[in-house]
Amino acid sequence: MNLPFDAELRRARLLVTAGSGGVGKTTTAAAMAVRAASFGRRAAVLTIDPARRLADALGLGELTGELRRVEPSRFADAGLDAAGELWAMMLDVKTTGDQMVRRFAPDAEAARAILDNRYYQYFSTSLAGAQEYVAIEQVRALIDEGGFDLVVLDTPPAAHAIDFLDAPDRLVSGLGSRPVQMLRAKEDGGLASRLARSGRGLVLKGLNKLTGGPFIEELTRFLTVFGSILDALKVSGEAVKARLRADDTRFFLVTSPTRSNVDEAMAFRRQLAERDFPLGGVILNRTHAPLAPVPDGPGTRAELDAALVEAGLDGLPSAERARLLDGLYESLARHNRLADADMQAAELLERATGHRPWRIPLFAHPIRDLADLDRVARHVQPVEA
Ligand SMILES: Nc1ncnc2c1ncn2[C@@H]1O[C@H](COP(=O)(O)OP(=O)(O)OP(=O)(O)O)[C@@H](O)[C@H]1O
Ligand SMILES: [Mg+2]
Repeated sequence: MNLPFDAELRRARLLVTAGSGGVGKTTTAAAMAVRAASFGRRAAVLTIDPARRLADALGLGELTGELRRVEPSRFADAGLDAAGELWAMMLDVKTTGDQMVRRFAPDAEAARAILDNRYYQYFSTSLAGAQEYVAIEQVRALIDEGGFDLVVLDTPPAAHAIDFLDAPDRLVSGLGSRPVQMLRAKEDGGLASRLARSGRGLVLKGLNKLTGGPFIEELTRFLTVFGSILDALKVSGEAVKARLRADDTRFFLVTSPTRSNVDEAMAFRRQLAERDFPLGGVILNRTHAPLAPVPDGPGTRAELDAALVEAGLDGLPSAERARLLDGLYESLARHNRLADADMQAAELLERATGHRPWRIPLFAHPIRDLADLDRVARHVQPVEA
C-alpha cells in the first residue's frame, strides 16, 4: 500500500531528523530507514548518540563507528520485504584532528609528515569543529561513494544539532579566512614561499636559536604539505555544504505536541531556514486521535450508554453501570482534550512553518523491533483538518 509519506522515502537521498531532546528523532529516523529498505532501497541510518534502544530494535547489540548491516532475516521475521538493505552506524564525533589529516592527506607519507610536525601538533588543538566536520563528511561519502540510495541522519537535540550542521560552513569560511590564506604555501607570496626564500635571514636565524631547532625547515615543510590538505578540505567542505542543501535532501523537524517543544521547534525551524536547509516537513509525534463519541454535548453520554448496551453490559446493576459510564466518559473526555491540544499545536506549527504537519500517534507499548519501527513509519499521516 502506498502511503502519503512514502513518496519522500522513495525519492530522497538524505533525510535529516532534527528537534528537541526526547521528541522521537532517533525513532523517526530509524522508522524511515526501515520502511525505505522495505521498498528495496539501500538505506543507512546514522545516529550520533550511542542510541542503545535503536541498536536493540535493529538487532545489532550495539552501534559502533563501523557500518553494520541489519540481518535480512529480521525483515522476513517482521513480515517485511527484505529486497533492500538496511545499515546502521554511530557517527563518531570524537574523531581527532589526526584522523582528519589521514582522511584528507594526499597519501600516507604526507599524513605522517604532518602528524609528526611540531607545528601541526600545536595547530591541531585549535582545529575547532574538526570532529563534527569529519563526522558529517561521512554522510556525503556514503551517498556519493558508498552506493547508498538513502542516508537518514539522526541529529542530537536542537542546539547541538545546529553546531553539528554548521561544521561544513564554519570549515569553508575558516579556510577562506585571512590567517589561513596567509599560510598557503602554493600561492606566490604565501608565507611558506616567503619563508623558504628568506630562510637564511638574520631574524629567522635568531628564531632557530630561540626555538632550539630547525624552525624554518620544519615550518616550511608543514605549510607545504598542509596546503594540500587545505585544498582537499575546501573541496570537501563545499561538497558537504551542497549535499545538506541538495534537491533530494529533506530535513524533518520532529516535535511532541507540548507547548514548550512546539516553541522550540518553531525557533529551530527559523535556524534551519536561515541556513537554507530544505525543510521537508514537520512531524508531530505522540499525538492522540479524537475518539468518538466526542463528549461535547448532552447527546454523547447517551450514545456512550447505548454503546455499553451494545457491548452486552446492560445486564450490570444500574449503579455499577452508571459508575462505569462516568469513568469511561471522563477518560474519553480527557483523551479528546489531548487530541484538541494536538490539533492546536498542529495549527500553530502550520502557521509558523507553512507546512501542514504529519502526525505519528502515541503508541501504547514501547518500540522494540523492526516491526514496531515499520509501524511507526506507516502511521506517519497528514494531520486532518
Ligand atoms: N510515537 C511514539 N509512541 C510511543 N513511544 C514513542 C513514540 N516515539 C518515540 N517513542 C519512545 O520515546 C523514547 C524517546 O524517543 P527517541 O529516542 O526516538 O527520542 P530522541 O528525540 O531521539 O531523544 P534524544 O533527544 O534523547 O536523542 C523512546 O523510548 C521511544 O521508543
Ligand atoms: Mg536520539
